[in-house]
Amino acid sequence: MAATDAGADATDASGPTSSAPIPMAMLAEVTHRCPLKCPYCSNPLELVRRNEELSTEEWIDVFRQAAEMGVLHLHLSGGEPAARRDLEELTAAASTLDLYTNLITSGVGLTAERVAALVERGLDHVQLSIQGADAAQANRIGGYRSGHETKLRVAEWIRAEGVPLTVNAVVHRQNLDDLPEIIALAERLGAKRLEVANTQYHGWAYVNRAALMPTREQALRASRIVDDARTRLAGAMVIDYVPPDYLGRYPKPCMGGWARFGLNVTPNGRVLPCHAAETIPTLRFETVRERPLAAIWADGPAFTAFRGTDWMPEPCRGCERKEVDWGGCRCQAFAFTGDAANTDPACSRSPLHDEMRRVAEADAAMPRDAAFTPRAFA
Ligand code: SF4
Ligand code: FES
Repeated sequence: MAATDAGADATDASGPTSSAPIPMAMLAEVTHRCPLKCPYCSNPLELVRRNEELSTEEWIDVFRQAAEMGVLHLHLSGGEPAARRDLEELTAAASTLDLYTNLITSGVGLTAERVAALVERGLDHVQLSIQGADAAQANRIGGYRSGHETKLRVAEWIRAEGVPLTVNAVVHRQNLDDLPEIIALAERLGAKRLEVANTQYHGWAYVNRAALMPTREQALRASRIVDDARTRLAGAMVIDYVPPDYLGRYPKPCMGGWARFGLNVTPNGRVLPCHAAETIPTLRFETVRERPLAAIWADGPAFTAFRGTDWMPEPCRGCERKEVDWGGCRCQAFAFTGDAANTDPACSRSPLHDEMRRVAEADAAMPRDAAFTPRAFA
């Protein structure tokens, strides 16, 4: 899910945990099953098995609870959500609850009939991932033969159904040089929005950091390409660009701030403040099989751990930007420093920032097509 800072606070999010903000969005990871093997996969190292997944009825009850809490946007995600045979039923239930439904998909597992059925049942929006601009590159990175060709067909079916399409491309050293072609492909597919997000290095992506880290020259060129394309495509296609954290001055407000804006539910019902939160071993997560969603959101230990600003160490504690970026990304802080409560080392004020830069430059100096470890689903 794209990080954003547009939370709808009923109260001050930095206040006591009993006055939690109203969540705007929920990411429902309906399954971890996925046919692709992307080296930057953001799903946890340990995946939920099919027989542990929430049932159709359990998911619908979670959607009902979310709607009662004030959630407006429901992102149906995975893994690959089309791997669930009840995706149409889940979509219909969410639509009946007046949730705006966004399907986040690789496209693999969809057919023209399924796309039509999903739209018929109220699907509002589709976010289709691509791994590169051409089949050879994309299928190598995604680890799935003919995956790219499938996506092109799926985009046509979505367009034929008249549903708005966002194309999502995770970029890194191995495909960032193709950014102009990626933008051209999104245009050809009729996307209303293109999200170009540099890889975030935690979970599986951290394993492949040296193979994926972009060079400074690539990052600078990408920013210029995005600026030019935004001007050229104004009014036709919106481009969201997430620059590489390791090369920035300040971190981004990951998730719009921890437990301020949205929540995630994993395939077996664990409720998380962000999609990668399970990479932080000191956090304790509850499931919707144990407690109501609203209670977990309000005072669950994983949610209160980093909500607001009271948890912050220096330099964040005394920083004028602490309610701008909320101290950056907790998962990145843990992945790089071993302590999720540290200032995100992407911040130039972090004592570990220089070390992060040094690591990034060393990684980026590796060959452009260095071997990576495909996501394993064993
Ligand atoms: Fe953000 Fe903390 Fe850096 Fe200030 S010190 S800019 S709050 S990460
Ligand atoms: Fe940034 Fe988890 S990915 S807080």
